[in-house]
Amino acid sequence: MNLARKTMNAPALAAVYERAWRPALFYLASGRTTASDRRDAVTALRLGGAQKVLDIACGPGNFTRYLSEALSGEGYAIGVDYSEPMLARAVADNAGPRVGYLRGDARRLPFADGTFDAVCCFGALYLIPDPLVAAREMIRVLAPGGRIAITTSHRAANPIGEMSRVVGGLSGLRVFGARTFPALFAEEGLVEIDQRVHRLLQYVSATKPAH
Ligand SMILES: C[S@@+](CC[C@H](N)C(=O)[O-])C[C@H]1O[C@@H](n2cnc3c(N)ncnc32)[C@H](O)[C@@H]1O
Repeated sequence: MNLARKTMNAPALAAVYERAWRPALFYLASGRTTASDRRDAVTALRLGGAQKVLDIACGPGNFTRYLSEALSGEGYAIGVDYSEPMLARAVADNAGPRVGYLRGDARRLPFADGTFDAVCCFGALYLIPDPLVAAREMIRVLAPGGRIAITTSHRAANPIGEMSRVVGGLSGLRVFGARTFPALFAEEGLVEIDQRVHRLLQYVSATKPAH
């Protein structure tokens, strides 16, 4: 297990992740706050009804509960993560009437095809050993007409981008080019593909066609 994956399994990180680690590191990487990322996630996933939402690599549930609060009726959000310390924090800090958590591997999701109306994965594809397998799993469990949204690393075409690739490689974080996910989404037949780049992070969303 590489350094980045070991860190994600550490109880000490789980304890500070939501309040300190994520806000600081994501702000440094993208110039964006967690509050804006959360608002944009709700918009990108087009939440606002009785949808079924899947939050892959949910960590301590710091997005899962927020997403669930945009739902109504029979809507709910499920967070999946493989780290026990992260899930323990999720249950303690981010429970709610429309939230559930499950331990699992993003590369082999225990859900039938087309189960969810919205599927997201924020800040994790660069940690997962087979990120494209995980991305295809997200698309598999997404229902026709559903929305997908990811936030992941972006290799800027400048010396900082090159440095991020080297540092990322040493710590076990993968740094993706701008085309990787838009191209994969297009290849899988998704439409309305939108990509926004903020410094070292990219935000990509898309729709699975209804037919
Ligand atoms: C940086 S946290 C992201 C938490 C949250 N989504 C966010 O944006 O702040 C990354 C999470 O990915 C999880 N993770 C990494 N590989 C995974 C895999 N193969 N399956 C499920 N979760 C995984 C880690 O356990 C960790 O909780």
